[in-house]
Amino acid sequence: MSDQKFIIPHNFAISKKDREELNTHKGILIWFTGISGSGKSTLAGMLEYVLHRKGIHTYILDGDNVRSGLNKDLDFSDEGRVENIRRIAEVANLLVDAGLVVMASFISPFRSERALARDLVGKENFVEIFVDCNLETAEGRDVKGLYKKARAGIIPNFTGISSPYERPENADVMVNSSTETKEESLTKIMALIDSRLK
Ligand code: ADX
Repeated sequence: MSDQKFIIPHNFAISKKDREELNTHKGILIWFTGISGSGKSTLAGMLEYVLHRKGIHTYILDGDNVRSGLNKDLDFSDEGRVENIRRIAEVANLLVDAGLVVMASFISPFRSERALARDLVGKENFVEIFVDCNLETAEGRDVKGLYKKARAGIIPNFTGISSPYERPENADVMVNSSTETKEESLTKIMALIDSRLK
C-alpha cells in the first residue's frame, strides 16, 4: 500500500462540467449486473449503438475484455471479484469525469461492490440495471460453454452454481431476459437513460 499522506491531488482548470457542456450531455455510469449469459453485454451493446447514433460519447467496460487486460491477474474467488469491481469502479469514475456515458457490464455479484461503484461516482451519476434471468435459461443458452464446464467441475467458483449472486434490491431498472425480448428491455432502459442525460 502506498502512503496516502503524501499524495496531494491537483485541481485542473477544466472540470467535468466543462467537458459535459462541450459534449452537450452529462457523463454518467450505467451499471449492468446479472449472472453470466443473462444478456448484460448484449443490452449494453444495443444501448451504446442507440446512444452513439444520437451523438452521445460512450464507452463500454465489459467483463471478459477487462479481465483480458487490466485485470488479467485476478481470479474468480470472492477476493478476486471484489478487486475486479473496485478497479473497474475507479476506471469508470475517471471515464465519467471525462464526460462519457460509460456502460459497465460485469456480473458484479456482491451488493457491497455495486454500492462502492455508486458511491464513488455519486448516486446522481449512477444508474443500476439488473438484468435478471433464471439460471435454467442462462444455462440453457450456455453461449460460451462455461456452465457445462462448471457443472463438470472444470471451472470452480462459477456464479449461480458454486459462487453466490446477490440480487439487487433497489435497481433503477429491472429487465428480465427470460421473459422479455431484448427490444422490450432496451425500451425500458432508454426511458430512464434519456431523462438522466440532461
Ligand atoms: S465478476 O464476478 O468479477 O463481476 P466478470 O463480469 O468480471 O465477473 O467476468 C465474468 C465473465 O468471466 C463471465 O461472463 C464468463 O465469461 C467468465 N468466467 C470465467 N470464469 C468464471 C466464473 N468462475 N464465474 C463466472 N464467470 C466466469
